Amino acid sequence: PELHTLISAADFEKIARTALTPKTWAFYSSAATDLITHHQNKAFLRRIMIQPRVLRDVRKADFSRTILGNKTAAPFFISPAAMARLVHPDGELALAKAAAAEGIIQCISNNASYPLGSITQSTDPQQTFFFQLYVNIERQKTTELLLKARDLGIKAIFVTVDAPVPGKREADERIAAVAIQSAISGATASNDKKGGGLGRLMAQYIDKALQWSDLAWIKETSGLPVVLKGVQSVEDAKLAVEYGVDGILLSNHGGRSLDTSQPAILNLLELRMKCPEIFAKLEVYVDGGFERGTDILKALALGATAVGVGRPYLYSLVYGQEGTQHLTQILKDEIEVSMRLCGLTSLDQISPDLINTSDIDYL
Ligand code: FNR
Repeated sequence: PELHTLISAADFEKIARTALTPKTWAFYSSAATDLITHHQNKAFLRRIMIQPRVLRDVRKADFSRTILGNKTAAPFFISPAAMARLVHPDGELALAKAAAAEGIIQCISNNASYPLGSITQSTDPQQTFFFQLYVNIERQKTTELLLKARDLGIKAIFVTVDAPVPGKREADERIAAVAIQSAISGATASNDKKGGGLGRLMAQYIDKALQWSDLAWIKETSGLPVVLKGVQSVEDAKLAVEYGVDGILLSNHGGRSLDTSQPAILNLLELRMKCPEIFAKLEVYVDGGFERGTDILKALALGATAVGVGRPYLYSLVYGQEGTQHLTQILKDEIEVSMRLCGLTSLDQISPDLINTSDIDYL
């Protein structure tokens, strides 16, 4: 179908299901074991209801935002996802160019198919990039990567902390691995007796020994703000403040790590209820199941600075850079329409008063 006939993030998923090879579809769409967290991420978002305000001149609807001091045209960013080249030959380069054209930020995966420098240098040098890090068992390799990220002008390091080992993704295991290699981590995949899961086979280099006391090394080596990707408890959020972290991304890896871990939006609601003061101490982001402008506004109402979007961006790459731009425009448009319908002219006006969470408020 022609790109302009796609009008929602879900439309991209529908197309990707048939356009991708069975292996790529299995790798991208899969999640851990029974897919409970994966489905609940989305389901819980939809159980939050909005209480719009009326009669407030809404000719203007400004949805620009600042993330760790970096301006962005919209309150969402591209979450890091491995091996974008599986869907389109331009892979992460297309994501980068689209992000630059649309004024949003891309967080590059440590398992990207292109080298870090070719991704960052594919756009105007002013473009903001974040980099997602998996710490290597060989720490020296991580040190070199952090120095490279700093030299390339990357603006923040997102350390993934919810996957010391990869989750069990069965759809991905059941189809034989394809010969691929990440140009950044060097990770490759080949079948073993457990199956062909790309996520698992490419995670062998990740250091299971990583702990809180290692964060200072990451921050000092890179000289960059550090965000923890995959925080899922209030206690860990508080530790993040203690350890001088600059931001936390509440995430369960799109349901790909520990199945039945609680939906990401519940983590955000819990943090808002039990520790509201934390939002003044570090920036909070969330990802997992965000597909609609209203989904994004709900997270902002609970205090998130921005939302990460994962799979929809991979699916948009069926159409290359144009597809990614088109998806971004759809999300922006949905946010703008929803803001006006909520009586919001700027995101600074958003607060928990906008939403009714009673259906999920059982904490
Ligand atoms: C991911 N994700 C991920 N996260 C990370 O820190 N490093 C990585 O390399 C990857 N790779 C990856 C591959 C694929 C195919 C998917 C779908 C996801 C997780 C990603 O950053 C994000 O947390 C989730 O995708 C968010 O959920 P949604 O938006 O996909 O529902």
